[in-house]
Amino acid sequence: MVHRRPLVVANWKMNGSLATIRPLVAGLGAGLKPDCEAEVVVCAPYVYLGELAEGLLDLEIVGGAQNVSHEQAGAFTGEVSAEMLRDFSCAYVIVGHSERRLLYAETDTLIATKFGRVQAAGLQPILCVGEQLEERQRGDAEAVIKQQLRTVIETAGIAALSQAVIAYEPVWAIGTGETASPQQAQEMHAFIRLLLRGYDATVAAEIRLIYGGSVKVSNAEEIFAMADVDGGLIGGASLDRAEFLNICHIF
Ligand code: PGA
Repeated sequence: MVHRRPLVVANWKMNGSLATIRPLVAGLGAGLKPDCEAEVVVCAPYVYLGELAEGLLDLEIVGGAQNVSHEQAGAFTGEVSAEMLRDFSCAYVIVGHSERRLLYAETDTLIATKFGRVQAAGLQPILCVGEQLEERQRGDAEAVIKQQLRTVIETAGIAALSQAVIAYEPVWAIGTGETASPQQAQEMHAFIRLLLRGYDATVAAEIRLIYGGSVKVSNAEEIFAMADVDGGLIGGASLDRAEFLNICHIF
């Protein structure tokens, strides 16, 4: 059996201030148990990445970003490139989060381009996929996930997935307090692994598939116990130091 190191990722989204982020980072560093098996990543807003990098120096926690430009460099006012993120010690970059897909009209093609930019800079994409409530109710959840993954696989190649993480985040569970049941999460994670096996068995066995959507201490243990769930992408609950650390310490 392949061993996949568990992964817990904080997605702070557009929350916090310098005043709250400093103590939060320090608190995470001080509180993370040395025997925690999980790799812990914190994805901060761009403007705090310098602060994050400094705060995480010498700690076991890894920095990450929540978005990236699909362009490499040049006259793209307001954009931030993958190479710039590397300068700030980001090891991971979230791409294709449903909030980017829905609120900023990011398409599968654009997300696939961002995925490639992140990898070209030597960083790991955390590729988010997930269906909306109506899609699940229509019985289309698997087809939606398949389409979201296919564009990336066809653009980047299946081998690229060996240097990436996939986060399954049903849109109806994000920030709503409604979580997928452990069985629903497992079913979709197993589906994703099966789909990837059709391309490459090793990639399918080794890739980390994390679940996101209203994960809290109270439900994380059951979800993380599922065979194909390798950790979590944590939004709201990651803003609370004790809550987030308790989620990490499940591993
Ligand atoms: P949530 O967000 O934990 O607040 O539901 C998860 C995410 O959007 O990554």
